[in-house]
Amino acid sequence: MPKPKSVYRCTECGHEHPKWVGRCEACGAWNAVAEEPVVVRAPVRGASKRAAGAHAAGPPPARLREVAARPLERWRTGLPEFDFVLGGGIVPGSMSLIGGEPGIGKSTLLLQAAARLEAGGRTVLYASGEESPDQIRLRADRLVDEDAGAVHVLGETRLEAILGAAAAARADLVVIDSIQTVYTEALESAPGNVGQVRECSGQLMRFAKETGTAVVVVGHVTKGGGIAGPKTLEHIVDTVLYFEGEATLDYRLLRTTKNRFGSVDELGVFSMTEHGLVAVPNPSAVFLAARAEGISGSAVTALMEGTRPVLVEVQALAARSGYGTPQRVATGLDPKRLAVLLAVLERRAQTSFADLDVFVQVTAGVRLNEPGSDLAVAAALVSSLYNRPAPPDVLFLGEIGLGGEIRPSGGLERRIAEAARLGFRRVYGSARSPAQVPGISVVGLEHIEQLVRALAA
Ligand code: TYD
Ligand code: MG
Repeated sequence: MPKPKSVYRCTECGHEHPKWVGRCEACGAWNAVAEEPVVVRAPVRGASKRAAGAHAAGPPPARLREVAARPLERWRTGLPEFDFVLGGGIVPGSMSLIGGEPGIGKSTLLLQAAARLEAGGRTVLYASGEESPDQIRLRADRLVDEDAGAVHVLGETRLEAILGAAAAARADLVVIDSIQTVYTEALESAPGNVGQVRECSGQLMRFAKETGTAVVVVGHVTKGGGIAGPKTLEHIVDTVLYFEGEATLDYRLLRTTKNRFGSVDELGVFSMTEHGLVAVPNPSAVFLAARAEGISGSAVTALMEGTRPVLVEVQALAARSGYGTPQRVATGLDPKRLAVLLAVLERRAQTSFADLDVFVQVTAGVRLNEPGSDLAVAAALVSSLYNRPAPPDVLFLGEIGLGGEIRPSGGLERRIAEAARLGFRRVYGSARSPAQVPGISVVGLEHIEQLVRALAA
């Protein structure tokens, strides 16, 4: 049988090329042309007649109310933070992608989940092109909370073989570690190539939908922070999870950036121990555990991570600049947001950071993605500037406008309640929306000047 033919299609614009080229001839994108198999469809009888007007009868559309509303089945892995981030567990027939830098713990997490699912009576096939079964065994032996002995492992990178083994074992879940190491016979290009990643993902997705098997694939992360391979990979799958963390810290943050079966931006927290990953049920307490009281330049805020409030510490240091243009370094927040807040502090509250280097960071590798954390950043900056520690029992919560006005942020009650639970007694927030939570007093601020006065006093 002759080898199936391939075409080379640009993943950016879809233009077809007869052979591989480094740059798309149509749109000029570099490295976007990927091999894909030519799908030859058998000619359909009566096709010409149909083209003349009579269309093939497919299933008729249904009214939405007639569509049976089945509750979504979910398999709990029993790893609480993993299940939480997924929206309650793994959905049969779904395909998920878990991305993260090498060594962050993706394989460990999935092996632990696989072990727990097997213990609960599910069949899991763990196909690894990254490690041999012996190496997986060594990892499994380190785990104490799970016995991974029953997990089916396969050291195979040919997709057809993996799918065959999954079907033969009647696997409920197939783990592919990693999508960059597998290849399909349908293409000649090497594993990891954009075309391979795309085609293998497409085949895995069809396999998941047709058989009801859940599929989880591991994806490597590029320097830019995206999952290596085409962006379409993220579009294909149902759920995208990122596993991140600071190399030096033991915390690992698992976050959903896409979830067809749950809410996005949910954050699950683990700590990496000698014996595998352990879920951290109370992230706020852990993030604040290292906080040193009585030091200037520290302020605590409450972020909404998905549906859950999480407390984090913002630290700032304003120091006399050695030379030339002062530095502005932001870790865990957008440098542009820092620039805006510094400008507002200068113009609206007569503070000056002009000849100071400014460093701001967020603890535990968390990112500030919402304006509600502005007030905490400003408080940390002002506290450092005047070298006056902010009171340790105060939570800062609010958005700062360009006029220096302080605006309320959403989900106030839940954030404040989380702070109250952790022993905070006061909230500095916007005067425009006084939230009431027992045990905590809210200090309403109109303008950033009031914050500066309160902290500098
Ligand atoms: P791993 O799951 O291999 O990461 P990834 O698949 O994302 O590349 O994690 C490997 C790291 O985790 C490695 O540095 C060793 C460490 N580790 C522990 O600290 N404790 C453990 O019990 C295990 C299994 C790994
Ligand atoms: Mg791995």
